[in-house]
Amino acid sequence: MIWYPYEQMKTMKSPYKIVDANGVYIYTEERKLIDSVSSWWCMIHGYKNPTITNAIKNQLDNFAHVMLGGLTHEPAEKLSKKLQEWLPGDLDYCFFSDSGSVAVEVALKMALQYYVNQGDLKRIKVLSLTHSYHGDTFKTMEVGDDEDYHFVLEAYGAKTNVINIPTEIPALEEAFEKYNEELNCFIVEPLLQGAGGMRMYDISFLKRARELCDKYGVLLIFDEVATGFGRTGYRFVADEVLPDIIVLGKALTGGHIGHAATVANHKVYNGFYSDNPSHALMHGPTFMGNALACSAALASIELFEKGNYMEKIKNIEAIMKREMEGFSDSRIKEVRIMGGCVCIEVLEEETLKGFQEFAYNRGVFCRPFIKYMYAMVPYIIEEDELITILDTMKAWFTR
Ligand SMILES: Cc1ncc(COP(=O)(O)O)c(C=O)c1O
Repeated sequence: MIWYPYEQMKTMKSPYKIVDANGVYIYTEERKLIDSVSSWWCMIHGYKNPTITNAIKNQLDNFAHVMLGGLTHEPAEKLSKKLQEWLPGDLDYCFFSDSGSVAVEVALKMALQYYVNQGDLKRIKVLSLTHSYHGDTFKTMEVGDDEDYHFVLEAYGAKTNVINIPTEIPALEEAFEKYNEELNCFIVEPLLQGAGGMRMYDISFLKRARELCDKYGVLLIFDEVATGFGRTGYRFVADEVLPDIIVLGKALTGGHIGHAATVANHKVYNGFYSDNPSHALMHGPTFMGNALACSAALASIELFEKGNYMEKIKNIEAIMKREMEGFSDSRIKEVRIMGGCVCIEVLEEETLKGFQEFAYNRGVFCRPFIKYMYAMVPYIIEEDELITILDTMKAWFTR
């Protein structure tokens, strides 16, 4: 049987069984639901997008997969070239993997080995944010600040090589001063911390982080697995503040098939490029550069470029702001909106109990967690569909 994610299997309610999905809708046998969370934030063009579906089908007629170990192929070459052109600055060296978590692992491994290759064995500490989430594999859990990790702390004790700080400039400055030459990298979900509670913070924090990373020789990693491809209202936050390594996943393929990329700048790449075989990056997921996934990603990026997506996202943000303006309730702590994301944070977890069923009965699929009721909508959503989602969220408090 299926072992479901993030669930106590003994008490979980049975999941909704989806029999079809198209555009912004998912279908059970009995209901048509607007997916307000874009299948964990990846389905930016909606389900069954014909351009992406055809790209996958065409590639499938050619071949589905060959490994990148000692082999290469056109979809992977084209996608790395496209990302090189499309991403800002000198983020030019693209390492593919099969999921966001693995791509973050690769980024952290790159950062550590970058210094080890120079014989610097002191820089082993990772600076990261409180409430950060970078994935569910071991190192990504460790750099994160998420309850998923607590069982590890119980068994192993406190983490030693990770420092979590809040998104406040004084805390940032203090950490750089204190840990100085022990610091290896600073990894952040830029501007929007997703799984940690849809927390939003100001770009001035990232600008200061860039300055400090330069000053102290620390690598800056942007985990844009969730924020990339427009979610914050920027195409990539990296367009505003340039990291040394960017991690992409989720929407990379328009959500149609799993894939991810860790893209490094020249400085990082050059730290590996040498006559010494032990300086090579020793990583190679079986499905890295999967031909179907690369074809989907190329189609997705083309849709994003040609479809005026940044305008669509601006429009979504404007509608969210208009519809949520002045909305309040004594049980609500804060309403937050950024780009294609809206979050209502409540004071007590209890407040959201039963909301998923309530939304289901109104034709909306939501997945609130802890104290966060949120939507991260597909960018192709129509105004009336978006309003249905927002009205459903508001109606929970006024029913
Ligand atoms: C910021 C961030 N990084 C990494 C991940 C992990 O990605 P994946 O679920 O593809 O392993 C996620 C997933 O939600 C994420 O939000």
